[in-house]
Amino acid sequence: MARADQDAAPALADMDLSGKSITLAVTGGIAAYKACEIVRLLTGSGASVRVAMTQAATRFVGALTFEALSGGPVYVDQFSGGMPHLALGRGCDLLLVAPATADILAKAASGIADDLVSSVILAAQCPVAFAPAMNSAMWENPATQRNVRTLAGDGAAILGPASGPLACGTSGSGRMLEPGEIVEHCRCLLSPKPLAGKKVVVTAGPTYEAIDPVRGITNRSSGKQGYAIARSARLAGADVTLISGPTALPCPAGVRRIPVQSAAEMLDAVLGSVKDADIFIAVAAVADWGIENPCAEKIKKSSGAPEIRFRRNPDILGTVCALGERPALCVGFAAETQDILRYAQDKLRAKGADMIVANGARSAIQSDENEVIFVTRESAEPFGPAAKERVADRLIERIIQLTERSQEIQA
Ligand code: C5P
Repeated sequence: MARADQDAAPALADMDLSGKSITLAVTGGIAAYKACEIVRLLTGSGASVRVAMTQAATRFVGALTFEALSGGPVYVDQFSGGMPHLALGRGCDLLLVAPATADILAKAASGIADDLVSSVILAAQCPVAFAPAMNSAMWENPATQRNVRTLAGDGAAILGPASGPLACGTSGSGRMLEPGEIVEHCRCLLSPKPLAGKKVVVTAGPTYEAIDPVRGITNRSSGKQGYAIARSARLAGADVTLISGPTALPCPAGVRRIPVQSAAEMLDAVLGSVKDADIFIAVAAVADWGIENPCAEKIKKSSGAPEIRFRRNPDILGTVCALGERPALCVGFAAETQDILRYAQDKLRAKGADMIVANGARSAIQSDENEVIFVTRESAEPFGPAAKERVADRLIERIIQLTERSQEIQA
């Protein structure tokens, strides 16, 4: 079986899937109906999708549905001519088995090829991913766990499963990931991996400084830019830790998130994570002041306006840049309302960072778009206005270039 991780290559992290060819193998579980949505999402991103089904899968969803969604024939019969068991796992970029029943995991782990889908898996010459879906007792059974370990050891990607309500009426682990999550994992498996082996730490969102248990001060920040950067770094193959203040955003697939509240908590989490990091990207809108005298109980209105004392919060980016063994590349953001470039250049020097991404504070905050200047000691490159995902992709490209350059200098 081919390994699921791919060789490093220069990359645009946030790829659409045009030109990618994916074989989807659907096996017989109730989650087969969700595989229809997977085909829709994959083709909607530009991928071409061929579908193979087990006989059992056709009991849940008709082949005609997949034919209509994929725009091509659906393969069920091993002996239908044209050797589909060989063709379907070759000449494609990914073989995705979703839903993957306990039965197909067992067959694949032992190399059994007694129907079309199991034969396609055994003959595959592309990365293979399984999205398990089954009752929790079947998932937790040591035999299934053993099979999954075997498959992962052979290089397959195991996507999920999640915990939640199951078709049998109970709740537990074994639920197939949602189609959007599976497609996001596919995107990740298919994208080039220039940051493979690199550890990236990103801060994002606002910090929240409590005045009492119900009140506090914070900065206006949605966290969208930082989350998009964490996702782009992950798609480029990095091991990503996202240290996030309070936001309403879902954690990007494959990213480790550490939720924090205050700047002091964020600093602790950052110092605990950057020790062996290669790249630190400080995107968080850290509150400049914390509360010196927070109240453990809710302050009563009747006791008059409270006297709140502020104290300067630690400068997280500055602290990391000054560490003896600091990440090779430290990047910060600068949200300003005027003289954007000059302030960014000052900040670059003052904090000892390698790059400052300067943006207009008014346009960037809680918007889906951003307009930035990538400022290093040597250059200032304007970019945008563009969606925050595009800005994230471009930043990761710039970081890859800087990383490659510093490796060349060291060599
Ligand atoms: O707030 P300031 O303009 O100094 O922010 C510049 C950069 O420093 C940003 O990347 C921000 O995330 C980071 N920062 C920080 N800790 C602070 C203040 C800012 O890491 N206390």
